[in-house]
Amino acid sequence: MREILEANGVSPITGFIPDTPPLEELPQQFAAVTALSENLAKLLEENSLRENVQELPVVACHLPLEEAVAVLRDISMLAAGYLHQGEPLGVLPAALAVPLNTYSEQLGRTPTFTYDLFAPRNFRVNDPSAPFDIENLDVLRSFTGTEDERVFTATHIACEAALGPAIYAIGEIQEAITKGDQQSVEKKLCVVHDGAQIFLRRFAEGVASQRIRKEVFNKIRPFLQGFENITYLGTPLSPRVYRGETAAQMPSIHYFDLALGLRKQTCVDDDMQQYIPPHFRVVLDAVQEGPSITSYVHAQGGVIQDTYDSIADVFTAFRKAHISVVRGYSPSAQGTGSTEGLSWLEGRVR
Ligand code: HEM
Repeated sequence: MREILEANGVSPITGFIPDTPPLEELPQQFAAVTALSENLAKLLEENSLRENVQELPVVACHLPLEEAVAVLRDISMLAAGYLHQGEPLGVLPAALAVPLNTYSEQLGRTPTFTYDLFAPRNFRVNDPSAPFDIENLDVLRSFTGTEDERVFTATHIACEAALGPAIYAIGEIQEAITKGDQQSVEKKLCVVHDGAQIFLRRFAEGVASQRIRKEVFNKIRPFLQGFENITYLGTPLSPRVYRGETAAQMPSIHYFDLALGLRKQTCVDDDMQQYIPPHFRVVLDAVQEGPSITSYVHAQGGVIQDTYDSIADVFTAFRKAHISVVRGYSPSAQGTGSTEGLSWLEGRVR
């Protein structure tokens, strides 16, 4: 498993969050896109994003991987702003649609705005020698330019980044099961437990005391919605319904659910995974194919079972805490990921 994690860009320190921050500057050909992206909040506030997008040139040249990801982040965020500000539109101009199609195809992603582009590919670290805590993270692009949005995005990144060592520990547990090395399983389960606790603690820090004010969240929320039956001008893409940005596309949560058998996978999970970058989907498939940690734990019982139960309890505590947060923001609305929101979340608690 270690080889698969390494080969697919999963960091032993920050997990599915890249341990070196994503590219901030786009290549020169996209200077006009950079200018709009850096001013996204202001353009949305002034209601002038759409007219500015009309002025953009159509560019789609060959780019190396990291540059293609950064362009996709900025283009997809501009597209979300363009489509969802005010009266929603059903047509994306070629200046956004063509690069969105080109780079999402190159990177094996959906031609939409996804979780990976909103959070894991949208940050800068203030102090590179310090951990990825919420206060150590800044965002590159923002719909509102507010501290609230920074905290919202940074909390997702900080939570996921807490799980790096735990993700590798899962691989080591599967290896130890194959070798019948019970001591190692016991030790590595503790690493998973520690990571899960930091995940939960960072979540609580981020959502504490209305740091993400409801009125600000309600300004961000429309831009996270799906791309539904959009005409992508200048591309061969046909209109279809795509889910919106949601942390239900967070690879870590799928990874631990699959590795530890925390929940039964549903077709919504399968569908959400289509919005996760393909190299991370390889990792999800691999962990699922590895030896069953759950069966081993049940067969062993004792301390191993107790530690496993404590890990499951931490993820349940996260899900319960998250539900009470969501209740405070959008009690009846559909989730931005096109789920039924609260009732869907409640069905996921063990
Ligand atoms: C204003 C705060 C938040 C609100 C209103 C909110 C809302 C939601 C909603 C409605 C869903 C259901 C999926 C959908 O969008 O259709 C969801 C899923 C999810 N959210 Fe949040 N969220 C918030 C903050 C966070 C934060 C800070 C995290 C960081 C870990 C997070 C992690 C998740 C995860 C992991 C899922 C998948 C749920 C699961 O597997 O049980 N959310 N969120």
